[in-house]
Amino acid sequence: MGVGAFKIIGNKKLEGILEVEGSKNASLPIFIATLIEKGTYILKNIPDLMDIRTLIKLLESLGLEIEKLDKNSYKIINNGITNIEASYELVKKMRASFLVMGPMLAHCGEAKVSLPGGCAIGARPVDLHLKGFENLGVEIKIEHGYVYGKVKDNELKGNKIVLDFPSVGATENIIMAAVKSKGTTIIENVAREPEIDDLCNFLNKMGAKIEGIGEGRLIIEGVEKLYPCEYEIIPDRIVAGTFIIAAIMFEGIKVKGVCVEHLESFLMKLKEMGVTYEIDKDGLFVVTSKLEDLKGVKVKTMPYPGFPTDLQSPIMTLMCLAKGSSEIKETIFENRFMHVPELNRMGAEITTEKNIAVIKGIKNFSSAQVMSSDLRAGAALVLAALKCEGESIVNRIYHIDRGYEDLDKKLRNIGADIERVKEEI
Ligand code: UD1
Repeated sequence: MGVGAFKIIGNKKLEGILEVEGSKNASLPIFIATLIEKGTYILKNIPDLMDIRTLIKLLESLGLEIEKLDKNSYKIINNGITNIEASYELVKKMRASFLVMGPMLAHCGEAKVSLPGGCAIGARPVDLHLKGFENLGVEIKIEHGYVYGKVKDNELKGNKIVLDFPSVGATENIIMAAVKSKGTTIIENVAREPEIDDLCNFLNKMGAKIEGIGEGRLIIEGVEKLYPCEYEIIPDRIVAGTFIIAAIMFEGIKVKGVCVEHLESFLMKLKEMGVTYEIDKDGLFVVTSKLEDLKGVKVKTMPYPGFPTDLQSPIMTLMCLAKGSSEIKETIFENRFMHVPELNRMGAEITTEKNIAVIKGIKNFSSAQVMSSDLRAGAALVLAALKCEGESIVNRIYHIDRGYEDLDKKLRNIGADIERVKEEI
């Protein structure tokens, strides 16, 4: 990993195309879903990211053979799970690792998975995942920091599950456990994020019977066997949103690979701010408004199709440059304003009270040394650093490397002065 930083000299003319990679949050569960059934899989459009490398180590430790075919494609051979324990060492690096629990229960009837623990943006418990498994007939024990699950009577049984909250991870974990269970599983109040649709489409391509995709209720008819397949992951809507913000801040940037249907609430907010855009003849996203004409708006983060929490910090950078004041209410994670003091170090005027941030418009940022606290916060700081005069240092970029493929390279290609340097500790 190494402790790295970005040195950015801002206020350069940026011109060219930023291309969106495959979705990280769709790749992770789909990669993990290959644990469910033996056979050979090909996955395409997987982003080249630290989180994917972390996941591969974990899947290999459970018995999968994984071959990288090219930068974004993998061959996965599942000859059976050889180890039912997902260790703390591997799970602590990435919370999404907890998603191996559902597929392992489906494949071998038991699993021992380390509890993921907290992270910078909040406690992030897994109670909803566990309640779902219990409803499918899994006996759950929590001991020494591990969750141990064993399927009762050697058979997962379809059941009705009502989620207290539409958790993305819990929805995915329960779906993966349910696809091969006996009978029908109905999950109410499920998360409706496009990444969940992608997981369901992948599983259906394998022969699963999932209905209600994209609605609030999933009906899963258990099947006896699934058939491995080849699958291409959807584009990353959060990276797309981040690049769109870059295109609003810098005339001359076009974005390739934006799936506008996945970004409706985000694009509506941008419109409200005064952003206009078009999709040009080459399918590129082109902004046609001027940054200086934007005005402040109010945003509240919500489960999909509401405004995504993962675009909360990047849009905050944009709000800093809009006229008047803006407001963000964060309702998904309790501690997701850690980028605020960092943006304020760069001249922003943001105040927070509990889960509400009020952002006063400023003319521009001023360069500074700052630290990213999570991957999206890191992107927000990079955007600010690109905009202002002078040299900024963004520390802790391993967060950014978890979620943005070659961000520095992509930005350099369109004229940014950004380089990787050692972090001064
Ligand atoms: C996923 C995304 C993450 C995104 C988040 C919300 C992946 C790999 N990550 O994370 O980028 O920010 O969705 O859109 O896809 N909760 C519980 N109990 C549970 C599970 C969740 O209380 O058992 C709470 C969490 O603490 C949090 C909220 O529900 O406050 C949302 O979490 P969840 O939707 O599960 O997010 P993740 O799947 O962790």
